[in-house]
Amino acid sequence: MGAPSNHIAIDRLAGALGAEISDVDLSSPLERNIVAQIGQAFLEHLVLVFRNQSLTPRQLLAFAKQLGDPIPYPQTKGLPECPLVTPVVKLENETVNFGGVWHSDTAYLETPPKASLLYAIEVPPSSGDTLFANQYSAYDSLSDGLKATLEGLVGVNTSANPDMAATRKHRQADDGVALKVLEANHPAVRTHPATGRKALYVNTAHTSHFEGWTAEESRPLLDYLSKHQIQPEFRSRLQWEPGTLTIWDNRCTQHYPMNDYHGHRRVMHRVTLAGDVPK
Ligand code: OGA
Ligand code: MN
Repeated sequence: MGAPSNHIAIDRLAGALGAEISDVDLSSPLERNIVAQIGQAFLEHLVLVFRNQSLTPRQLLAFAKQLGDPIPYPQTKGLPECPLVTPVVKLENETVNFGGVWHSDTAYLETPPKASLLYAIEVPPSSGDTLFANQYSAYDSLSDGLKATLEGLVGVNTSANPDMAATRKHRQADDGVALKVLEANHPAVRTHPATGRKALYVNTAHTSHFEGWTAEESRPLLDYLSKHQIQPEFRSRLQWEPGTLTIWDNRCTQHYPMNDYHGHRRVMHRVTLAGDVPK
């Protein structure tokens, strides 16, 4: 780490979203002014990446607490010694990866999280990247006609979508966590509480249909939006190294973990921060 300075260094990851922050050591409490700069960069870049960190689960949690209120993850168990830190693991003999469908985290909760932090402990060689997509851009680039249609629509979000549920089943079986179907209705377009910008808030993993519409009626529009919202120009791609910590804004981004490393182990620690009811 370089000498402590009053300004964080910010380098964009891509045109669409994401930035790398260097020269910050997250292992001990940060000055208020640095936390404020990180908070500002988070709202501007939506995904922040910190390299070469060395964090125990408690230190990861302590950093998370400087940015928000950590909450338990509803679908799998946390670490026994630090329950608000959830392991995200794919072992050498496994083929399914956790969350392996484009999504915004746990949109099936009444109050979905503001942000998630993911910290890399062990990563496969040159693989296991995570893709992110900017949902402000996804909304902004729609026609006025479709924007107007979506303004009136509410998405029904469920934890029971079989494609997505399959990505956590193996973990739940291991952990003995009961399978519970969670469901929440949220506006298809939400207004970010901090930036006031509108973001598309339906996602392939969780949104089953629009409120008041049948599944069949909803499908063509949801299929269109699913493709539209993750197009390459809205994306960035993160290559992990051990010690990389990333935080993303679930209110205006989606993410997708690449599953291109069968036979290798990938171990991450995750913390979720409480959010607001989408409006
Ligand atoms: C998550 C998730 C992405 C990854 O923890 O919410 O989707 O790259 N993980 O493991
Ligand atoms: Mn996720």
